[in-house]
Amino acid sequence: MKLRDLSGLSLRGKYVLLRDDFNVQILDGKITESFRIERSMPTIDFLRNAGARVAIVSHLGRPKGTRDMKYSLRGVAEYMKLPLIDDCLDKSFLANMKDGDVVLLENVRFYPGEEANDADFARALADGFDLFVNDAFAVSHRAHASTVGVTEYLPSYAGMLLAGEIENITRVMENPKHPVLSIVAGSKVSTKIGVLRALIKLSDTVIVGGALGTTFNYAMGENVGNSLYEPDQKDNALAIMEYARENNCRFLVPLDKGVGPEFKIDAPRIDKDMADITPDDVIIDGGPKTADRDVAEIGRAATVIWNGTVGMAEWMPTWSHGSFAIARAIAENTRAGRLHSIVGGGDTVAALDACGVMGDITYVSTGGGAFLEFIEGRELPGIKVLEA
Ligand code: 3PG
Repeated sequence: MKLRDLSGLSLRGKYVLLRDDFNVQILDGKITESFRIERSMPTIDFLRNAGARVAIVSHLGRPKGTRDMKYSLRGVAEYMKLPLIDDCLDKSFLANMKDGDVVLLENVRFYPGEEANDADFARALADGFDLFVNDAFAVSHRAHASTVGVTEYLPSYAGMLLAGEIENITRVMENPKHPVLSIVAGSKVSTKIGVLRALIKLSDTVIVGGALGTTFNYAMGENVGNSLYEPDQKDNALAIMEYARENNCRFLVPLDKGVGPEFKIDAPRIDKDMADITPDDVIIDGGPKTADRDVAEIGRAATVIWNGTVGMAEWMPTWSHGSFAIARAIAENTRAGRLHSIVGGGDTVAALDACGVMGDITYVSTGGGAFLEFIEGRELPGIKVLEA
């Protein structure tokens, strides 16, 4: 896939509308993690140093077309030390910009026209700019006005983060070093059928964990207690296991679980084999046998693709064991030069961060849903419109 990139463009004095994904966690108005912001900086700095006049457009959360200040980008603007333009359709600020200036526009999802990809809204958003740069890989699976609509009105290019995501994920998907191990977890089988099939095709081994793994345990007739899983996905789960057999892919489900009496951060933990789980038990993490098995599988792999934590990793330390064991094993093997690792998804990246191993992973994607859809081989609308 060849995208129109920024090379060779004359940018001095040009008004650039830059789409970034600053959908970051905010608590009491302050941002609590800045991964996507840091990863967006190379393109911002490139444009600034080239003398462009840059207005960054982003969403935060899902305010559903209303001006709900809970979703204001003010905390991001303060963190980035950028002026915040209160209304992304009021372009009076453009007249005051100098070469190299950068501003942040308030949440584009305050307008219903954004998610509806409304043509009038897209035209109004594009108005006053000379070109559009999309660096928001993480939202490129959405056909919205600020990812797709504006490209009807402005010459449009891929930013460096977006181009880098595609290059790094494509390299692994097209030519991975075997054995390939994919670890897929999270809550829902129903949203991951497509990606599981794609990963089964690509991988020598697939491990499923988390509530997703519990649905497979259930489909196999094992005890799952009073836990989060999808009973209506039993047939899909069995069909996926059959698909793995047909494709000579080992398909590994959880062997044991960390359970508590309630789904609560301070619930007391007991580790149980599947056979010992009772109807009152609530599964909150993978168990120690599963973690040991996962670590051993990672040690045998040449490529690991990981999306989804295998328990409530943010409920540290009681319920983070399974996910942290995976994070640390991937990091250790990558650091030792034995493994090419690629990790994506908000919770998964947060688990890497909590273990302090972000820097040890070969490639960490900023995408969650976009990462999964790209792996699945789906056409992402925000990327399609940037093709050369
Ligand atoms: C994400 O966090 O995955 C992206 O910012 C997309 O957000 P959305 O799922 O609300 O469209």
